[in-house]
Amino acid sequence: MSGYAVEVKNLTKRFGGLIAVNEVSMSVKPGEIFSVIGPNGAGKTTFFNLLTGINKPDSGNLLLDGRDVVGLAPEQVAARGVGRTFQNIRLFGAMTVLENVLVGRYVHIRTPYPSALARTPGCRREEKKAAERSLELLDYMGIASRAGELARNLSYGEQRRLEIARALALDPRLLLLDEPAAGMNPQETEELKKLIRALRTDMDLTVVLIEHDMSMVMSISDRIVVLQFGSVIAEGLPAEIRANTKVIEAYLGSGAAAGGGAASSDPATTESRAAAGNGATGEHHA
Ligand SMILES: Nc1ncnc2c1ncn2[C@@H]1O[C@H](COP(=O)(O)OP(=O)(O)OP(=O)(O)O)[C@@H](O)[C@H]1O
Ligand SMILES: [Mg+2]
Repeated sequence: MSGYAVEVKNLTKRFGGLIAVNEVSMSVKPGEIFSVIGPNGAGKTTFFNLLTGINKPDSGNLLLDGRDVVGLAPEQVAARGVGRTFQNIRLFGAMTVLENVLVGRYVHIRTPYPSALARTPGCRREEKKAAERSLELLDYMGIASRAGELARNLSYGEQRRLEIARALALDPRLLLLDEPAAGMNPQETEELKKLIRALRTDMDLTVVLIEHDMSMVMSISDRIVVLQFGSVIAEGLPAEIRANTKVIEAYLGSGAAAGGGAASSDPATTESRAAAGNGATGEHHA
């Protein structure tokens, strides 16, 4: 056993001629808040897709809690205790807030199909337990009062929190958050920061975070890894990353390419680029 929550060695994923993730190695300790940052297109979301079985790596090793997960289907990875949220919110807009969380709970419902059909007492007990836990999670995320509302009627910030509640519904040991602050206002981002810290402690979680909001990343992360063009260009403590010339150059380059001012693209000072419209807000599905 490696003792790591996540251990990745030489992980590579190609899409045709493009190397989206290139020989990436990193280890995340249990209980860490570990951030993955990098310019647009650096391979961050693809990295999450590899971790969660949505994409299969072309080569490399991937261990979660010391166990190889390469080749597992997404639901098998989820059953190993991996919850995630998506960069482009994926909620069932026509379902209620509570129902959206219940969907995340399905890995724990063990009722065989015939008993579920007959609505046996055992099945009803499981459903009741699932609903109670889901409400607790909504309460934790500060949106319990919205439980009966259709998901599509929630504000953007509330939808992002609902996604986290749904990911938590499977009682994960590892939580992967892909740009959870995208589209949030500064006050919502501040609340989210506190919530993520609290979650780690209260639910005994390891958190891997992809985020463009550098003030959030720098204040919340135990360690940070930086990707550029699929490769790791730096890894270290927030203060080390902030001062790393390669990292600063990577952000200056991308800021210039995206039409942003060079100064505002400094990783030490950049506010959420998502809020300025990096595509995340326009694509949500709820
Ligand atoms: N399914 C796919 N098919 C082909 N190319 C893909 C696919 N998914 C991602 N890519 C490409 O892989 C590269 C990495 O994309 P990825 O979405 O992982 O970047 P990212 O770091 O998450 O960027 P962003 O900050 O914009 O979300 C990009 O060039 C992207 O176009
Ligand atoms: Mg992404």
